[in-house]
Amino acid sequence: MTATEPEPEVPSRAEVDATVKVVHDHADRIFLWSHDRSRGQLVTLYNKAMGSQWNSVTELDWDTEVDPEALVDRSTPLLQLTTAAREVDGSPIASWGDKELIALGVESFKAQLSQFMHGEQGALICTAKIVETVPWIDAKYYASTQVMDEARHVEVFAKYLDDKLSGHYPINAHLRLLLDDIVNDSRWDMTYLGMQIMVEGLALAAFGFMREMTPDPLLKQLLRYVMSDEARHVAFGVLSLKEYYTELTDTELRERQEFAFEAAVRMRDRFLQQEVWERMGIKPAEILPLVVADPGRGMFQQMLFSKIVPNCKKLGLLDAGDGWLRTKFTEMGVIQFEDWQDTGEEYESLQATG
Ligand SMILES: [Fe+2]
Ligand SMILES: [Fe+2]
Repeated sequence: MTATEPEPEVPSRAEVDATVKVVHDHADRIFLWSHDRSRGQLVTLYNKAMGSQWNSVTELDWDTEVDPEALVDRSTPLLQLTTAAREVDGSPIASWGDKELIALGVESFKAQLSQFMHGEQGALICTAKIVETVPWIDAKYYASTQVMDEARHVEVFAKYLDDKLSGHYPINAHLRLLLDDIVNDSRWDMTYLGMQIMVEGLALAAFGFMREMTPDPLLKQLLRYVMSDEARHVAFGVLSLKEYYTELTDTELRERQEFAFEAAVRMRDRFLQQEVWERMGIKPAEILPLVVADPGRGMFQQMLFSKIVPNCKKLGLLDAGDGWLRTKFTEMGVIQFEDWQDTGEEYESLQATG
């Protein structure tokens, strides 16, 4: 710092408290005195992860100019529906013109990226928890590489939002409740099921869509790197739980099925983006009925489950016991993905480095 620059202000205690959230977990920390490398697929994944680290500062072109308004795509279901909703009798957005529509597009983009960023911090915390709680040495080693990956992911999304889009949204209530449930649980395998299978499975599909659709070269590049890590993370979950679930009773598996379904419902609901409408000055209760009941939007939401369902099938969760989860996923309209490629091996094809 030079003599002419002002001293940075020290934040007050209240300001610091407002930026911190405490969640208690109830899990045991497990030390292991045996270092046998008995799980070959996890050894392979760990070796792969060590060679696939990338540098968020030097490998992404942060000098790229980003114009958020120019990135708004009018063909998205949200903007199409909003355009149509202007014409409905008594519409709360009857007076909206192009300016408001573009502003909505920018806010929706920021909100989506913000939830990606918060989910990444959830992954950072969960993976650190797995390092502490998993009773297998190969899984501790692998999970520690994922901790580094997730730090980098939080960092790059935060940097993109703050430097290129002028800030971020707070965590969505549905996502926060889901992360709380995952961190609260005392059973080590539930961290994997909630994070590696459900949250990261959905993230892998959502990042894939955004990478396809965005014209911004920096975001494309960023998502390509993040996705190559995420595919390994989901594979880590599939390989670990596939082994562990063979030891569980039907009653224990039913608890996992219910946990997976509740997570799926929370993730579906978070896509309503109530917070975006609030920021646009429109009451969510007045507008959501006009923009939610659409087959196009429904299809987009269903596609987000295209990784989760085949991975649950690979774990034996779909049909365990009386097939409770199959019934639930059928009711949600996502069972058609059951035979899509699972992520146990898919990570090789998404490799971005080396
Ligand atoms: Fe991540
Ligand atoms: Fe991840």
